[in-house]
Amino acid sequence: MEHCRQFCQEPGLLISVIRHRAGAPSLRLGLGPGLRPVDAIGQLQKLLNCNSFWATARSRVQLRTMLKGSSVVVSAWSGQQLVGFGRANSDGVFRAVLWDVVVAEQSQGHGLGRQLVEALLAAPALAQVERTYLMTTNCEGFYRKLGFNAVQHQRLMRREASGE
Ligand SMILES: CC(C)(COP(=O)(O)OP(=O)(O)OC[C@H]1O[C@@H](n2cnc3c(N)ncnc32)[C@H](O)[C@@H]1OP(=O)(O)O)[C@@H](O)C(=O)NCCC(=O)NCCS
Repeated sequence: MEHCRQFCQEPGLLISVIRHRAGAPSLRLGLGPGLRPVDAIGQLQKLLNCNSFWATARSRVQLRTMLKGSSVVVSAWSGQQLVGFGRANSDGVFRAVLWDVVVAEQSQGHGLGRQLVEALLAAPALAQVERTYLMTTNCEGFYRKLGFNAVQHQRLMRREASGE
């Protein structure tokens, strides 16, 4: 079951925040609120291209694969327009990681980012986990307000795919 809640971002502007089933099948099919066809993958591609620096140039095929492999996916809509997105992976008990939290520029600064992160954290797959991680370059203050703290005694390590 998808979970949907609506809130007024400002007077007269209603935003729907949808928490999708694992793998976000409706988004992968291109569907938006009310399961209407809205080219959701194309809209997601544009949202990430325009509002992130780490998630640009992802193909439609890659985005579908990404959604399929995500434990929790949230999307935010102003009418049929995608204005926010976030996702997470979780083992359901010990560890979870948030990824790709993005709000469209025109919708930033009115509480939508907070709504998206809170919807991810409230999902059954994340609500009980011991630790939830994320990586951020310049939004530390945003995540601090949501209960995250910088880790001093550990290093972020990564391995790039060969050839990159
Ligand atoms: C970061 C982002 C998701 C925040 O979304 P938003 O809708 O503008 O955030 P909100 O309005 O919900 O802000 C919640 C609180 O965090 C604060 N905040 C927002 N962005 C912040 C930032 N970059 N640094 C510090 N504080 C920030 C707000 O002032 C607000 O504080 P308040 O509760 O005291 O009023 C959005 O700016 C965005 O998409 N940025 C581009 C993509 C990006 O960098 N994403 C983060 C990936 S790690």
